[in-house]
This record gives sequence, C-alpha cells and structure tokens, in this order.
Amino acid sequence: MVDAFHSCSALKDQFGRTASYLRLSVTDRCDLRCTYCMAENMTFLPRKDVLSLEELYRLSTVFIAHGIRKIRLTGGEPLVRKNVLSLFENLSRHVDSGELDELTLTTNGSLLSRYARDLAACGVKRVNVSLDTLDADRYRTITRWGRIDRVFAGLEAAQEAGLRVKLNAVAQKGPFEEELNDLIRFAHERNMDLTLIEEMPLGGAASCRSLSFLSLGELRQRLEERWTLEPLSETTGGPAKYVRLRETGGKLGFITPMSCDFCSDCNRIRLSCTGQLYTCMGQEGGLDLRDALRQSDGNETVAQLIRAKVFEKPRGHEFHIGESDVSGITRSMSTLGG
Ligand code: 5AD
Ligand code: SF4
Repeated sequence: MVDAFHSCSALKDQFGRTASYLRLSVTDRCDLRCTYCMAENMTFLPRKDVLSLEELYRLSTVFIAHGIRKIRLTGGEPLVRKNVLSLFENLSRHVDSGELDELTLTTNGSLLSRYARDLAACGVKRVNVSLDTLDADRYRTITRWGRIDRVFAGLEAAQEAGLRVKLNAVAQKGPFEEELNDLIRFAHERNMDLTLIEEMPLGGAASCRSLSFLSLGELRQRLEERWTLEPLSETTGGPAKYVRLRETGGKLGFITPMSCDFCSDCNRIRLSCTGQLYTCMGQEGGLDLRDALRQSDGNETVAQLIRAKVFEKPRGHEFHIGESDVSGITRSMSTLGG
C-alpha cells in the first residue's frame, strides 16, 4: 500500500543530513542515581506526561515510515519500564521485515541478567552497558547505591544470549584515570568494545562538573604512552571516534561532545519519554509531539511536525563548561537518554 504518508521521503534537514537513527527514551526513571546524571532525590515525571508504550510504538512506526533504520531505546533506564518487552516485541517485527537495520538499547545493566534472552529473541543484537569502574565500592559511590555484581551478571547473561556488548564509561578526573587500563583490559579480554564519554553539562546532577571534567584529548595522549592506538576510519554517524589497540585487538571509542566537531555527519534524532522531539543534543527546545499524537487517531499531523522539526535541525551544538553549570543544558540526560 502506498499512501501519501508512506510515500513521503526520508527525513532530511536544511544542511542535507538525513536522520536515520532514532534514540527513544522510554522512561525518565532509573534504579540508580549516577552523580553526573541525577540528584539523589529525584522527582520523576507524572505518569500521565509519559507516553504509553502503545504511543511510543505508534510514534516509532511514523519514524520508521520516514526512513529511520535504527532505533535505540534509552532512559533513564529502559529496563525499569514496566512491560518494556512488549515495545521491543512490537519493534522487532520491523527488524524482521527489514525496515529496521537495528534495534538496540543502552542500559545500566542492573536488570540485564533478567532480560538478556528475551531481548535477543526480539532481534536485539547489541547492547551498550554503562560501567565506569570495576570496583564495587566506587561503583556504589558513583551510582549512589548500585551493586556491581548485578552488572557483571548482566554482562555475562548478555554474552551468553549472544548479544554483543559495548561498555560506556564516563571519563572523570581522579580514580577513573588510574583504573582506565584495567577497564580496557577487562572489556577487551571479554571481547567487548569500550567507549569513553566526555562528561556533558546536562542538568539534574548535583556535582560541580568543572572539577571532575577530564578532557579525552588529554587522556588519549596518556593512553598513547601505554598502548598502540590504531585509528579506525569507520564512522557511525555519531560522535564516537574509534581506535584499535594493537596489544588487545579490541576497540576503544572516544566521545568528545565538548571538544570535537561531529555535527556535520550527525544522523540522529531523539525523542523524550514525554514525546518531545530533539534534533540536537546540545540545544534546548524540543518539539512536543504528544498533544498531536493524542488529539488524532491518524498520524499525518505528527508526521508533518516531525518533517518540519528535522528540517530545522541546527548545524551544531553549543556546550560550554564554565566555573559553574550555568551555560549547560538544563534538561537531564535521564529524560533524553545518552
Ligand atoms: N555526561 C556524559 N555522559 C553521561 N551519561 C549520563 N549523564 C552523562 C553526562 N552528564 C551517560 C551514562 C550512560 C549514558 C546513557 O549516558 O553513563 O553511559
Ligand atoms: Fe541511571 Fe544511566 Fe543516569 Fe546512571 S547515568 S542515573 S544509570 S540513567
């Protein structure tokens, strides 16, 4: 069936980039409170503001009809959302049909041992798991109460289920710098890639970022004294730059939103769990799709809003780390997903 809606073209922006990758936040809630992400006492959104799983799926189908080929579920923590598997199941049909190249998720790993097999059954091939340390005490400090043994169990379950695992670590000054070589060995010995993320000035967290901020440029130079870094040319359409470590054979990624320009080939857009569409991480101002979605049984209004918003995608982002957080973006990572 080719109707006006399905025949519409891909999501292009004014600078000629095509959006093909949707990051879909399914909840603002999380079972952890990482210091760089959240305050200890969080007030989460009222449930009525959050899109239902049916609404999230319905919106996803609109994006898929517009050429989105990859969907990553994020949070908060996507696996704390009740019945989230039903969304994976619905989306998996689009993997089966070939409309989606990839269905994946970013998780803190605490519930992964419970879900790994079901996720694999839904066509999920890879997961990104956040892990900033190997030390149980430090893990508890960073996450405020997380248990690292759960993450380790989750990693094992994921690999047993046949999922490829990538670890994400937020780089910070201090113990992280000393532990980094161990983290690299841990990941690469287990055939996992590791991506280091430069801390971003997003709202919600309580700590003062200018103190903990560690530039990955600096870190990379230090790594070069210990490892042989072989640049990989592949690009993901995202901010990560990858190298292969000759000594381990494993991949190491660097995400440097603060100090590098990756905007020119950005292929991604983001949807918050309340139905706000963001075309750029570093800019305020999402477009509300929820009302349009709830006010009509048809999808054409929503589709038009999406096309117009993507067209206006800004050329690049604006982050600055100052003495305080004043110039940062006020929304938290947990409403939009990393
Ligand atoms: N800066 C960089 N990364 C962050 N994350 C959460 N908050 C921040 C921040 N302020 C990361 C998490 C996780 C991913 C979802 O985003 O560690 O890997
Ligand atoms: Fe939860 Fe991830 Fe934020 Fe940590 S970084 S509090 S795991 S959403």
